[in-house]
Amino acid sequence: MNYLIINGSPRRENTWKVVERIKDTLSDNDTSHNFNEINLGDINLPQCTGCYNCFNNGEHTCPHHEIISPIVSAMKSCDGFIITSPVYALNVTGLVKNFIDHLAYFYHRPYFFKKKALIVVTTAGSGHKKVGDYLDETLRNWGYNERFKLCFIHAHDGSGRLPLKTKKIIDKTTNQFYNSIAGNQLKSPDRKALFNYNLWRAMAYNAHIELDNKYWIENNMMSSEFHPDIPCNVLKKIPYKIFYRILLGFLSKNTVE
Ligand SMILES: Cc1cc2nc3c(=O)[nH]c(=O)nc-3n(C[C@H](O)[C@H](O)[C@H](O)COP(=O)(O)O)c2cc1C
Repeated sequence: MNYLIINGSPRRENTWKVVERIKDTLSDNDTSHNFNEINLGDINLPQCTGCYNCFNNGEHTCPHHEIISPIVSAMKSCDGFIITSPVYALNVTGLVKNFIDHLAYFYHRPYFFKKKALIVVTTAGSGHKKVGDYLDETLRNWGYNERFKLCFIHAHDGSGRLPLKTKKIIDKTTNQFYNSIAGNQLKSPDRKALFNYNLWRAMAYNAHIELDNKYWIENNMMSSEFHPDIPCNVLKKIPYKIFYRILLGFLSKNTVE
């Protein structure tokens, strides 16, 4: 198994202690593993300039393409994706937000339908749930089939060690993450995933951004209520068929040339 770990803290302290336990647990499950670790603090990624190049002209035209594209390649090729952030001012760190801003085109052109992710958040007292939910929502929009969350207040004790109870929670979720990848089973989308998919599908159909339209057609994603490779009950899709039609009507009347 190949795992990509994106460390969204500028240091390797509290959040990293949780990651170390995750790595140990994953290693116990599978001896032939590989961890590719990227510290966002080390890659010197400038702020997103808001040039809209990724949306309109393709991600390869991003001014920071050389920095971001090897990471995207690793995200596409890994078996399991792990992303971490401590809570900073009730949100993700600036490092994580800047990273996500550079990948915002994945909302328009979701890709990771067959991938599983593990989200790790630590905080001193608050914001862990909100930040975990934000990362979950972001990865859901990018297509991630299943997302697991480990969000802790003070994961470690006064001496910097993880308490037994915390270790058990980490192990349980990590094993679920591992089994989901190893079992090769793709989960049927939840309602939010279906909602997001059809929202972006309608916008892509409407060809507000030509590149999005091309992407959805070329990847055979435009013609059904969810990605064709992911199992989804026909009945579950019906409300989203209607939702999509309504959106198309709305967008055709409200699009500014
Ligand atoms: C700039 C900054 C902002 C923070 N903001 C919050 C916050 O809003 N709420 C909170 O409970 N903890 C906050 N913290 C504490 C960290 O979330 C917490 O100590 C975390 O575990 C640090 O993880 P790390 O050691 O992996 O960087 C903040 C810490 C820093 C440095």
